[in-house]
Amino acid sequence: MTEGTGLIRGLEGVVAAETQLCDLDGASGRLAYRGYDIADLARQATFEEVVYLLLHGDLPKPAQLDGFVVALTAARAIPPELIQAFRLMPKDTDPNRPLQAAVAILGMSDPDTADNSHAANVRKAVRLTSQMATAICAHHRVRQGKDPVAPGAGLSHAANFLYMLTGERPGSAAVRAFDASLTLYAEHELNASTFTTRTIVSTLSDMHSAVAGGVGALKGPLHGGAGEAVMRTLLEIGEVSNVDAFADRALAEKRRFMGMGHRVYKAGDPRAAILRGMAEEACRQSGQFKWFQIAVKLHERIAQAKGLIPNVDFYSAPLFYSLGIPVDLFTPVIAAGRIAGWGANIVEQHDDNRLIRPRADYVGPKRRAFVETTKR
Ligand SMILES: CC(C)(COP(=O)(O)OP(=O)(O)OC[C@H]1O[C@@H](n2cnc3c(N)ncnc32)[C@H](O)[C@@H]1OP(=O)(O)O)[C@@H](O)C(=O)NCCC(=O)NCCS
Repeated sequence: MTEGTGLIRGLEGVVAAETQLCDLDGASGRLAYRGYDIADLARQATFEEVVYLLLHGDLPKPAQLDGFVVALTAARAIPPELIQAFRLMPKDTDPNRPLQAAVAILGMSDPDTADNSHAANVRKAVRLTSQMATAICAHHRVRQGKDPVAPGAGLSHAANFLYMLTGERPGSAAVRAFDASLTLYAEHELNASTFTTRTIVSTLSDMHSAVAGGVGALKGPLHGGAGEAVMRTLLEIGEVSNVDAFADRALAEKRRFMGMGHRVYKAGDPRAAILRGMAEEACRQSGQFKWFQIAVKLHERIAQAKGLIPNVDFYSAPLFYSLGIPVDLFTPVIAAGRIAGWGANIVEQHDDNRLIRPRADYVGPKRRAFVETTKR
């Protein structure tokens, strides 16, 4: 671009959309979905209600919720070809890759795949919410050499996920914590992956293409991949008594602390506060309290030394670990929650679309004469 420069690195502070979905107040550390405070939703609403809220604009009345749960439950099955594809994939690959591929494969058989109307987008978002959960669990089973567990009848979305992952019916405390985690991850304005999905559909491409791209953006360690990195750090530390030595060393090496810091929240991430309480309870109940204790001590040391706040991915790590979720599935699990927001953002983008196409400042060589290959 030669017409003046307005470069804003990382698009920090740039407003690129109007949204009715997420009200994120970084200065005061508040977050609401369609006007409902995240703490109220996490504590009192089910993930199904939150998905309905994001897609339809308001919390469902009882009959609406019943119908929505029927639609979500009916969409849980995935095509046998997808399970076959999982069997052909390398067993040791990062499970974000099979998830990304699964979304693309699901787009090949979705009855609305190329229909970008509002109604079709909502239907696709509902289907993807259910199918991605099934796909994550089916792939995990297949890579272990096991058969996928068929979705369980009469189980909520969260309970069914844990059931399909392990083959065992989860306890009510685990279901409640997992359900609230999905809600806390469901939507977060123009984070990198959601912006990616909006950019993709702004070309009038479709939801499956966009969500596959969203998974690709989410998996990076500066975004959703941070949770997995947090848990690997806690495991590396190993014992509460090792935290101080680890923190001293990591601070001296100027390491980036995963799960700490945020582009928008400077005073505190409200999701982290809720997840901290849930992690404490889940770690205690599962007999793995030390992971919570290590996390708290590390948080305090890093906050004191660098003034960084824990973000959503910090306390979700010991929480997911204590729920028995394999560490390399943390990011796919986050995707299983974030699909609600991706879907709703895609609906919103297509409802009022304009191509997303920013500019770049050109900083390369000045115009120069072309030289033939043999004369260079
Ligand atoms: C989330 C994140 C990418 C936002 O960062 P950002 O707004 O782009 O800020 P920058 O990366 O430009 O960092 C600004 C300064 O804070 C420091 N900083 C920010 N987060 C840090 C972290 N987690 N650990 C160490 N230093 C950090 C940077 O080193 C930089 O310092 P400098 O100005 O002295 O160079 C960043 O905080 C981070 O990398 N966090 C860890 C990854 C993570 O948890 N991601 C999940 C987010 S929900």
